Amino acid sequence: MTASLVDKYGIDEKVREERKAFLSLTHTDEKTAGELLRWFAQIAPQMIDDFYQHLQSHPNTAQFLKEPKLFERLKREQLRYFEELVSGEYGQDYFERRLRVGERHQQIGLEPRWYLGAYNLYIQFCFPEFARRLGAEVPPELMALLKVILLDISLTLEAYFAASTEQLQHRNDELERALHMYFETELKAQQYAKLAGHEIRSSLNAIAHACEEVVVDFGDKIPTEALETLKDANDRCWQVMRVVERILSQPEQAGMSTWVSVNELLEEVSGRLNLYSVDKDVELILLDEPIRIWADPVSLREVFANLVSNAVRHLDKPNGRIAVEHRFSGKLHIFCVSDNGPGIPPDLQDRIFQPFFLAPSSKERGGKGLGLYFVRRIIEQHGGTVWIESVTGQGSRFSFSLPVEPLLSLPIDESDDADDSTSR
Ligand code: HEM
Repeated sequence: MTASLVDKYGIDEKVREERKAFLSLTHTDEKTAGELLRWFAQIAPQMIDDFYQHLQSHPNTAQFLKEPKLFERLKREQLRYFEELVSGEYGQDYFERRLRVGERHQQIGLEPRWYLGAYNLYIQFCFPEFARRLGAEVPPELMALLKVILLDISLTLEAYFAASTEQLQHRNDELERALHMYFETELKAQQYAKLAGHEIRSSLNAIAHACEEVVVDFGDKIPTEALETLKDANDRCWQVMRVVERILSQPEQAGMSTWVSVNELLEEVSGRLNLYSVDKDVELILLDEPIRIWADPVSLREVFANLVSNAVRHLDKPNGRIAVEHRFSGKLHIFCVSDNGPGIPPDLQDRIFQPFFLAPSSKERGGKGLGLYFVRRIIEQHGGTVWIESVTGQGSRFSFSLPVEPLLSLPIDESDDADDSTSR
């Protein structure tokens, strides 16, 4: 339904009466104007024909009348409009339809000067015609004066519109300037944040390496508790560095997939191995072929880091062995991280990917039970699945699949625990 224009422009009965009063348009006037309706049928057809002939002979107005169907409809509309003009009824409906004409003209880009100029045709045609039927004659001086009056109105209105448009343009310019300043400030803030991020990252890097050096060089000389504290501090450094790195890699790109060399990610994970395996003898076997996949590098590195550090943490044999393998299965990459650790009892295997699940041995090591859960979430977000095969006493093999073809967008996770993704 079309919204009422009288409501839109706040033209209620009071406003209507005010306007009529200012024009001194009395009820008697309305009735008197309505007396002209009896000659409408005699005057209207010729007047409308002349009207459109005139509009078609002027390029400024002819450009709106190229469509023959529209032309016919407009003629009908004009007849109705003219009939209403001499109907003697100038209430709410009359106001509504006049406002609609104004909006329609504005929509098609017809300037008020052409509308007013065309109104002159009405006046010039129907005034003498009505006068003659009333037994009178309109002197040419008055007809000329009416033209001048319409010229005045159209010029003054033009200035009104131009001034309003200028004012709007001015406000628009100010708004644009304000927006520009906002974006400039925003950009500067981003640059500062980036600078601060780099500073934080390099400081954390230095601290993490200092911790690692102390652990490597003096690991056997410092008390176990101090060693644990150093390892915790190092872990924390790496965690914060990952967060900073994610922010630095452009907010709009954080978490986004790209082509990633899995070998490079594994090299980074391997670089951290001496930390996980400070008091253990561990052999880490990496991929022997180059593999590139479509993934979020930061998240995927965490998947490998989690699986490898888990395997190291739980190793119970003097010679630990952890291997990362890859194979294709149809349209999927399959990655496996296997170890010769204690294995996971069958009754726990279903639960280890749940949040806050802690195997009895992890509890002793102060784990939070979130590592494998994050692994599952990350892999699922990449369109893959994760699973485990394990033989108690012999070792475990964690596998996950990832699509070979790039996913256009990461699937939206609608599971109950979707909110937990923010804690990654
Ligand atoms: C006395 C002056 C004029 C009157 C009384 C008048 C009246 C009207 C009316 C009643 C409508 C229909 C509005 C609606 O859709 O509800 C209309 C629309 C229109 N008028 Fe005028 N008009 C006048 C001047 C002009 C002039 C000078 C032109 C220029 C050629 C023009 C071109 C149009 C066009 C193109 C439409 C839109 C038709 C559509 O697409 O629906 N009018 N006018």
